[in-house]
Amino acid sequence: MEHTAPVNPWVALAYLVAGVCFILALRGLSSPATAQRGNRLGMIGMALAVGTTLFAHHLASPFEIGVAMAIGAAIGIVTARRIAMTDMPQLVAAFHSLVGMAAVLVAAAAYLNPGAFGILGDDGQILTVSRIEMGLGIAIGAITFSGSVIAFLKLNGNMSGKPILLPGRHVINIAVLVAIVGLVGYFTQDQSAWVFWTITGLSFVIGFLLIVPIGGADMPVVVSMLNSYSGWAAAAMGFTLHNSAMIITGALVGSSGAILSYIMCKAMNRSFVSVIAGGFGGDAAAAGGEAKEQRPWKRGSADDAAFLLGQAEQVIIVPGYGMAVSQAQHALREMGDKLKEHGVRVKYAIHPVAGRMPGHMNVLLAEANVPYDDVFELEDINSEFAQTDVAFVIGANDVTNPAAKTDKTSPIYGMPVLDVGKAKTVLFIKRSMGGVGYAGVDNDVFYMDNTMMLLGDAKKMVEEIVKSLD
Ligand code: TAP
Repeated sequence: MEHTAPVNPWVALAYLVAGVCFILALRGLSSPATAQRGNRLGMIGMALAVGTTLFAHHLASPFEIGVAMAIGAAIGIVTARRIAMTDMPQLVAAFHSLVGMAAVLVAAAAYLNPGAFGILGDDGQILTVSRIEMGLGIAIGAITFSGSVIAFLKLNGNMSGKPILLPGRHVINIAVLVAIVGLVGYFTQDQSAWVFWTITGLSFVIGFLLIVPIGGADMPVVVSMLNSYSGWAAAAMGFTLHNSAMIITGALVGSSGAILSYIMCKAMNRSFVSVIAGGFGGDAAAAGGEAKEQRPWKRGSADDAAFLLGQAEQVIIVPGYGMAVSQAQHALREMGDKLKEHGVRVKYAIHPVAGRMPGHMNVLLAEANVPYDDVFELEDINSEFAQTDVAFVIGANDVTNPAAKTDKTSPIYGMPVLDVGKAKTVLFIKRSMGGVGYAGVDNDVFYMDNTMMLLGDAKKMVEEIVKSLD
């Protein structure tokens, strides 16, 4: 017989409605046109879930929960206001570590006080099903925590972005993983403290071991993978807490994170297994660097650029990380509008991993009110460069690098790239010839006959071009 606490039907209904709001929120977020509505639904769902928990919970008083929420909200608001858009990936990693830790703490609380969680059987032992949920929750939560901390340190520059390769790491990792799975199985037979805490300790260790060998270039995939883990950890804890909103939310986060990891792996032409196996990106800075600076290249001014742009029939703008750094999106939209007034067709080409987070460019362009109809995904626009007069690359680098197609030794080999070199003229904005992109490699496009380098800060350069277009 299960001794679970009776669930108030109104509470169950409120959680269900919150869950439906989350599903509709995700649906809304799938298109820029409905994203705001999606966001609002997500907020309503979260308010409902939190409110219901606040009034229905019997483990802590509303006052205690209120204080905890106020502290959390204060930290969240201050951090979100301070953080620069370009530091968003590490913020996301830091937040995932909190979700992982929350799952560990909930599992530990349930283990130490099973009566309060209603998970004791007639024999006074924790129910078998709850032990499985608890074992999985703590394992996934602890892996998420330590893995996210390492991802944060690497992305934030507190730790080298290069892969750190321990000898025999595959054997060690597999042995630790097998031990964790074995212990979670054994936990169903023996609920001794040593089993529970050994699972916890080993899971913290494996999170660390799994992420340390992963190089910087694969970090976006890792962050999204940890996002997925944090969802599954929350879902597992939702079962322990008999909280349907948590189960639904956890499953949504878990599966959407997994789908996003898959999409990013595809965009970078990496297999999921090879990302997890680690070691990628170690020689990034060395590759392709030798012949740099020796080769001739052409420099242009804002006036030259304005002239070429004004004469064009079609211009494709390729934004990247540098546009985000200099916040050039508003000036860029103004430039696009001016060109349209001159009768030029203006399109934007978005690479799936341009910038530093999924959808980074789309968010910035939407913020500057660039019409959605002018924005195209890589596969929809790549064939158009050959019939385009000017490819206008602004702060992008890796995503335009032809070495990804031609140089097997390049760390980005195999990643699909935008074929900007096929346009009649390439205008390339960056600050200096020495600066490299995320993968740390030189780009042959700088030295092509049809390329004109526009050296300077992206925003300033575009503002000057706008002036010249008048
Ligand atoms: P990057 O290859 O990183 O190139 C950025 C370029 O912007 C550099 O050439 C840099 O050159 C220039 N730049 C920086 N600040 C600038 C400024 N203020 N004004 C003008 N130019 C500036 O960017 P990308 O092409 O967008 O590629 C993205 C890379 O990041 C890929 O390798 C991708 O795998 C990786 N990544 C992506 C994500 C996601 S999910 N989007 C997350 C993490 C990593 P200078 O220094 O010379 O100015």
